[in-house]
Amino acid sequence: CLLDLLVSSRFASRFVRQFCTAMAGNFKVCVVGGAGGIGQPLSMLMAMDPNVSELCVYDLTMAMVPAEGVAADLSHLNMKCKVKGYAFDKDDKAIDKAGDCLTGCHLVLVPAGVPRKPGQDRKDLLNINAGIAKNIVEACAKFCPEAVVGLIVNPVNSVVPAMCEMWKKKGLNPAKIVGITTLDVVRADKFVHEMTGAPMSDVSVPVIGGHAGTTILPLFSQCQVGMTIPADKIPDLDKKVQDAGTVVVAAKNGKGSATLSMAYAGARLGKAVLAGLNGEVVTECAYVESKITDLPYFASKVTFGKQGVETVHPLGDLNDYEQGRLKALLPVLKEEIEAGLDYAKEND
Ligand code: NAI
Repeated sequence: CLLDLLVSSRFASRFVRQFCTAMAGNFKVCVVGGAGGIGQPLSMLMAMDPNVSELCVYDLTMAMVPAEGVAADLSHLNMKCKVKGYAFDKDDKAIDKAGDCLTGCHLVLVPAGVPRKPGQDRKDLLNINAGIAKNIVEACAKFCPEAVVGLIVNPVNSVVPAMCEMWKKKGLNPAKIVGITTLDVVRADKFVHEMTGAPMSDVSVPVIGGHAGTTILPLFSQCQVGMTIPADKIPDLDKKVQDAGTVVVAAKNGKGSATLSMAYAGARLGKAVLAGLNGEVVTECAYVESKITDLPYFASKVTFGKQGVETVHPLGDLNDYEQGRLKALLPVLKEEIEAGLDYAKEND
């Protein structure tokens, strides 16, 4: 397009780049499970993004709060975005009913599903939540096959491979399916800031691998501040990041898992995707189809651009501790990926 041509011309590039970054996008976003614990604050944060012109809050009629109510509430924020709510019956197939809601979406964020209860791990959730995700992802394949689909629904390590396989069978691009692991990055950054006192803006810890237990691998050595932490303190800090979700589940005492921090993290990823679609180049960690290890799905730094995921970055240098952790996590993650691939086969 003309703007692309102008941007690439040396002559006008500086001016046009400033002009382009100043121009907000007009994207349609849907939050599925938008009336839930994560969904409500996530919908609010997305409604506040200047790149969002239309927001759909999608949930079940049996949700604690009607999706239409959440949408009516958010529609009064003095933001440009129009907000609409859609509620469906539990047994409705999204592919039959969600056409209005999903058609034209650029980004679909999915915090629908059942959260973990104390004593449950993310694996226990696979069958229930993969079924919910399948219903939605099939509808996305039909109504918005070009959208980026951000999956928050747990267990991410298995649900993402299951949904990518379905997506591929339909001849669609699996790079559009993104597992949201941003909460691990947010937590790693916060814990490093608390431990070192360094300004938050100086802390950026890549978190690779997966999104459960030992598969979560923060690379403190790749953060200027993180690398100053004494080696003997790293194992506990690493474990603190891995266990942070369980700490919240226990503290909420059976009444939910991380919702507010997850919404914050999900919005950070969602905004990065939209900024990418709008022509900026933004890098975040995410769990995607990948060739950077022997495993077909892996979380690492990912650059978003106009097509969604544009580059899946290699892991970079790992110190001895991180290499040991990587070696140990690969078989665990492999098993969780295989559980997802089995689900896809059994539910073809
Ligand atoms: P919640 O129960 O408060 O909300 C879930 C919402 O999804 C409810 O409003 C429910 O009505 C809706 N829902 C269920 N089935 C649906 C369907 N078929 N179509 C549309 N909506 C549907 O649960 P919460 O705490 O918001 O968690 C949601 C999901 O996010 C869970 O799977 C949880 O495990 C996961 N999670 C993921 C995290 C991550 O870092 N990726 C962190 C925390 C939670």
